[in-house]
Amino acid sequence: MRVTVPSFAKLNLDLRVLSKRADGYHELRTIFQTISLRDSLGIEFARAKRTNIELDSSVDIADNLVVRAAKLMLDHLRINAEVRFALTKRIPMGAGMGGGSSNAAATLIALPALAGQSIPFAQLSALAEALGSDVPFFLHGGTALGLGRGSELYPLPDLGQHHAIVVSTGIHVSTVEAYKALHRGVTNALTSEAESPILREFQAIAWLLESAHLEELTVKNDFEPVVFQIHPALAAVVRKLRRLGAKPAMMTGSGSAVFGVFESGLAARRAAEAFGASITYPVRFVNRRQYRSLWRRALGGAAALSCFGK
Ligand code: C5P
Repeated sequence: MRVTVPSFAKLNLDLRVLSKRADGYHELRTIFQTISLRDSLGIEFARAKRTNIELDSSVDIADNLVVRAAKLMLDHLRINAEVRFALTKRIPMGAGMGGGSSNAAATLIALPALAGQSIPFAQLSALAEALGSDVPFFLHGGTALGLGRGSELYPLPDLGQHHAIVVSTGIHVSTVEAYKALHRGVTNALTSEAESPILREFQAIAWLLESAHLEELTVKNDFEPVVFQIHPALAAVVRKLRRLGAKPAMMTGSGSAVFGVFESGLAARRAAEAFGASITYPVRFVNRRQYRSLWRRALGGAAALSCFGK
């Protein structure tokens, strides 16, 4: 069996980092959004006596999450298979766009379908969470609220067909370093759990998503102050996006990609020209319905997609 599946990128439309937890992770409140920028993952699958997993990637990535996800899923299904992946990367890496996590989720969704097996959603999300905090979100897509490590997810209302541009300068920000940086500095940059005004502010945004326009909301990413201090060039990109009319304009995840949302495709394209094509990605928001239908189309009648419901 051979399929080619999409693997979409995400943006964080809001991201608050609360305290560090006993398990070493940070407690988050975030709003995830899938966007049209996507990698493509070709998969050739055949049952075999022994498992053999091969990956041909357009970019060399050490310890690729696709291979880890495939091993985890085959073990879970208790089957052996010959699996060949062909990964075409378009999502910038180390940019806060969830590219690796999305590739892992794509593998987890596709393999049971190719094996003709369905797997209960709770098990699928547990496997996703074991691979990384951002992986479970890509089992759903659209607009979602992320709690805990970012892997406890609830649906939020669709935000409509927004046009945005993502500017990825190639600056690499290590996620682990970005979390550490939140603990340094004169004032603790972490949103304190005791600071309920901040949690109330976040709640207000989640509720307002349904009725207010995205451009009216005061969204925030707690990583911005610490990452912009280390890389002032990123703050300059955000300022430029704002001057060009983006609202909001902000960083995604722990960076380094920043994005701006525009009121039309034309405004977005004009802004993209001001940055240069090599670092700019014009994108649209992908809602849950579109996300699922693109997945269904890719897998055809391969199997029930337990994560996407009926
Ligand atoms: O879950 P994932 O492997 O993507 O996380 C990478 C690193 O980011 C973790 O090892 C941890 O240092 C940090 N992290 C965190 N709190 C989160 C998510 C990630 O501290 N909620």
